[in-house]
Amino acid sequence: MRQPLVAGNWKLNGSNASIEALLNAIIEGSTALDKVAVAVCAPYVYLPGVNDLLQRHLSSIRLGAQDVSEHSAGAYTGEVSAAMLQEFGCSYVLVGHSERRALFGEHDADSANKFAAARRQGLTPILCVGETLAEREQGATEAVVARQLDAVITLTGVVSLADAVIAYEPVWAIGTGKTASPQQAQDVHAFIRSKLAEADTAVANGVQILYGGSVKGANAAELFAMADIDGGLIGGASLDAQDFLAICEAGNNA
Ligand code: PGA
Repeated sequence: MRQPLVAGNWKLNGSNASIEALLNAIIEGSTALDKVAVAVCAPYVYLPGVNDLLQRHLSSIRLGAQDVSEHSAGAYTGEVSAAMLQEFGCSYVLVGHSERRALFGEHDADSANKFAAARRQGLTPILCVGETLAEREQGATEAVVARQLDAVITLTGVVSLADAVIAYEPVWAIGTGKTASPQQAQDVHAFIRSKLAEADTAVANGVQILYGGSVKGANAAELFAMADIDGGLIGGASLDAQDFLAICEAGNNA
């Protein structure tokens, strides 16, 4: 049985004050949820503060970053290494989010290198995959997702996905209010699991596969009810404590 995971991705949002208020509300509202794992992925500069607050409340909420350098140290101005993230309490890191791919020129190979860097440091990567609307309309969804997964499998082996997290995030559903239907999402999740099963059934059965793309309190339960959907990666709705907690609750009841 895979434990459901609900991870918030705050993206480029927040201030010291707003993040403290948001986190306090999430901590308070999630204490009774004992079946779902909850994580928040904060902007780099807020990681120490969020980590302190979580520790002070002895909260079981896990901390994640939104990106990581593929390098461990050296002349890479602006980069943040996996070891640095770990020092500030991160257990998760997003890798290959579609916004990194589309807006910052991150290629499959770069995402795979970041995945490897996270794993070397003992962080759990949340590998984001998903097709654009044009790719879906061309019938290329499975080919795109397979290519994105293969970049990681080729570099670090399928076993590197054991206890990792995959997030299927159709690009056309991110921040658009257009959620994939539970069946559309389930079909791709099942494809991901069957593709991994060709290489290793234990990895395929164990890996958590999250759905991301306009998940809200109102649609989370029907998505999480699908057999291969193990939780969600939540953007916009993670900035609203009540909506995010409703999604966490759906994960807890899944
Ligand atoms: P969204 O974003 O929930 O706002 O669609 C999801 C994501 O980008 O991870």
